[in-house]
Amino acid sequence: MNEPTVVILAAGLGTRMRSNKAKVLHEAGGDTLLNHVLRAAATLTSPEQTVVVIGHQAAEVKGSVITGGVRFAEQTEQKGTGHALLCASREIQNRDGVLLILNGDGPLLKPATLACLLEAQKTARVGGHVVTTDVENPEGYGRIVRDEEGNIAAIVEQKSARPHELAIHEINTGVYIFDAGAFWNCLNEIQPNDATGEYYLTDMVEILSRHGHPVRPFLVKDETELLGINTRVELAVADGILRARKNEELMLSGVTIENPSSVLIDAGVTVGAETTIGANVQLRGTTRIGERCTIGAGSILRDCILEDDVTLFAYVVAQDSTIGKGAQTGPFSRLRQKARVGERVHIGNFVELKNTSMDNGAKANHLAYLGDASIGERTNVGAGTITCNYDGARKHPTVIESNVFVGSNATLVAPIRLGEGSYIAAGSVITGDVEADALAIGRERQTVKPGWAKKRREAKEPSSGDKRSGT
Ligand code: UD1
Ligand code: MG
Repeated sequence: MNEPTVVILAAGLGTRMRSNKAKVLHEAGGDTLLNHVLRAAATLTSPEQTVVVIGHQAAEVKGSVITGGVRFAEQTEQKGTGHALLCASREIQNRDGVLLILNGDGPLLKPATLACLLEAQKTARVGGHVVTTDVENPEGYGRIVRDEEGNIAAIVEQKSARPHELAIHEINTGVYIFDAGAFWNCLNEIQPNDATGEYYLTDMVEILSRHGHPVRPFLVKDETELLGINTRVELAVADGILRARKNEELMLSGVTIENPSSVLIDAGVTVGAETTIGANVQLRGTTRIGERCTIGAGSILRDCILEDDVTLFAYVVAQDSTIGKGAQTGPFSRLRQKARVGERVHIGNFVELKNTSMDNGAKANHLAYLGDASIGERTNVGAGTITCNYDGARKHPTVIESNVFVGSNATLVAPIRLGEGSYIAAGSVITGDVEADALAIGRERQTVKPGWAKKRREAKEPSSGDKRSGT
């Protein structure tokens, strides 16, 4: 059982967010702050060895977690970071090895940095390491007081710091790694702070040192990795950093991104190699994109699956939809929800699909609304076709079988079925089922009256002497 234990502190409300929502539920880079921290933790240990301390909106926080199997410890009253660890101790499976403590509001720490921290603790075999950094403005943070040997003598909180301590620029980031055995043995020695009555986790530094387990600083140069989110301004900064990292990761894996600073790709999205993503694209949620796809400028996809070789022209908006290999969509198409688009399907400009499937090779190239419909292979849906799926009270299905030709501007009043190979005349209003291979025409026969227009014109024409205005 050598896996590290990870405790993530996430019980606080985060008053400065000015929100009814617990701080760790706020999103940056397309996921909650807590899920980003859990992702980093997952690179070091299994979910069973991970304990999240929850308090404010415990149920919502628990429900938001994407990693299955992690443990939760409830801290009903927030009596400080030390108290949070006392609460976590009940859920700890393994009291040997190392204990890593992370903050639920610190989504930027890189797995590589955590791996170095783990390595430092394993080689040094000291009481622990506190991750520190030098900041220009240390206001609000605990200051690192070092002893002559370079170990940490104490962490002094802003509120109780004396002037010479306030001048220290090396701060406690709130990320720690400890020798687990020593830590759990000594944790009960934490006393409530005189001034605030809270239990400070930072007091563990002095307690462990007293027991012969010195604690060292682990100085991280890149301040941005350690940004803790306290306000929505910092949330936006973190969002920018996480987005830039995601784009960079994809580009390094073989994805071309045009104007990356305009492109938003959520943490949970995957994109295959040789795919090109245009400017102002947003890929949201759990969207998965295959290889050699093109995602046209301005397209917005949420929770979609695109197989390989799909081309989206500019401004396609899609949600909860799947698009098959080699299909083409857009510009300006909308797959509103649950569209299932087969291989080599073409969906053109101003076509909207809702809860509709189009089988392999089907086409709807211009101006159509296809709702609650299933459309068979190689069927062609003409410009302006509308499925009338809603009667004002209920929704009804439209079934169009394979190899059907639906002429332009057809109105298909559901429920309705168009049989295989049937042909719908342009401009028809179709209200009943059409059998296979039949032609259906649902409109007035055209009337032509020879000479009618000319006669009308001449009747209105001014007498030959009048001058025309010419305007
Ligand atoms: C803490 C550190 C400080 C450090 C700073 C870094 C202490 C005493 N101080 O201060 O040295 O510079 O973090 O950001 O630890 N939490 C709980 N339960 C509680 C209290 C807090 O789960 O009872 C969680 C919070 O949700 C948060 C984290 O612990 O994720 C840190 O708490 P916070 O109140 O932000 O501590 P700071 O005052 O910032
Ligand atoms: Mg804080």
